[in-house]
Amino acid sequence: MTDSVTLTRPDDWHLHLRDGPAMAAVLPHTARRFARAIVMPNLRPPIVTTELALAYRRRILAALPLELSFEPLMTLYLTESASAEEIRRAKESKLIQAVKWYPAGATTHSEAGVSDIHRCQGVLEAMEEHGMPLLVHGEVTDPEVDVFDREQVFLDRVLGPLLIRYPRLPVVLEHITTREGVEFVRSAPGQVAGTLTAHHLLLNRNALFAGGLRPHLYCLPVLKRELHRQALLEAAISGSPRFFLGTDSAPHPRSGKESACGCAGIFTAHAALELYAEAFAEAGALQRLEAFASFHGADFYGLPRNRERITLVREPQPVPAAFPMGDETLVPFRAGQSTAWSLA
Ligand code: DOR
Ligand code: ZN
Repeated sequence: MTDSVTLTRPDDWHLHLRDGPAMAAVLPHTARRFARAIVMPNLRPPIVTTELALAYRRRILAALPLELSFEPLMTLYLTESASAEEIRRAKESKLIQAVKWYPAGATTHSEAGVSDIHRCQGVLEAMEEHGMPLLVHGEVTDPEVDVFDREQVFLDRVLGPLLIRYPRLPVVLEHITTREGVEFVRSAPGQVAGTLTAHHLLLNRNALFAGGLRPHLYCLPVLKRELHRQALLEAAISGSPRFFLGTDSAPHPRSGKESACGCAGIFTAHAALELYAEAFAEAGALQRLEAFASFHGADFYGLPRNRERITLVREPQPVPAAFPMGDETLVPFRAGQSTAWSLA
């Protein structure tokens, strides 16, 4: 058994940092591991303009501890009133990498999202023209559709037809959770990729109900059956450049999670790379971790690969029961337990 692995410093291609004291609390966890991260724009109010994104970027850099190097890669939040002009401004800034599409009502802070993607035609055309990736939360919001089927139905009803209309649009299906999602990305024509979270690689939906209801394992898209987890793991270790690392680490205060109507989101940033190493090692594919974590995403976004190296060792790392987050506390993934791998 390999007991250590050294790889090119990775990037996180899907991350929630929030803002203010919460952001300051979670940012170092990511910056200790990842050189860059695609930062989600679902703040309240959402990041809908280049100006807001650049101001948010400055706040992130101001909160970064001096000893850490980290580059936030910014995104815009797609709304039905977005303009093609805004896409051009975003592209010109060179600091905004993508546009995030939340179907309205699909998840945390998605109220301002898109009810009908056809109303975004001008923006999508501009994105296609500028090669600006569309990052997709791939779930229908139709309450008639079973919550465990919302990804598949979205691919059939919405994303499949959209790719035909915009064949040159770069698209990332974020946090894939199903076999159908993997198959969709694998066989899609054009520039289509997908991110995979550590928690969806490690857990199936039984974890949500193990010995009682587990609010800290509730995220969207929700965990699925074991057969889906197996398909995600196969995709991650396949070596296909269409799949890359995106943690979807999503901090919420304990009070928001342990509630009669708990928020969706799992915080994994404190051990993200270690958790992926665990999933890859269990699958006997540690040698495939570097390309997945450090090459495929950069290549997709047309950004240079990182040069630094980072080493992981197979040594258990205890996870605290909670972290401070502003005036609140944050319960991390594996709280009070341990990860199998640690940073050297
Ligand atoms: O579980 C989730 N949490 N899924 C999302 O899509 C959003 C995220 C959040 O912002 O908390
Ligand atoms: Zn997310």
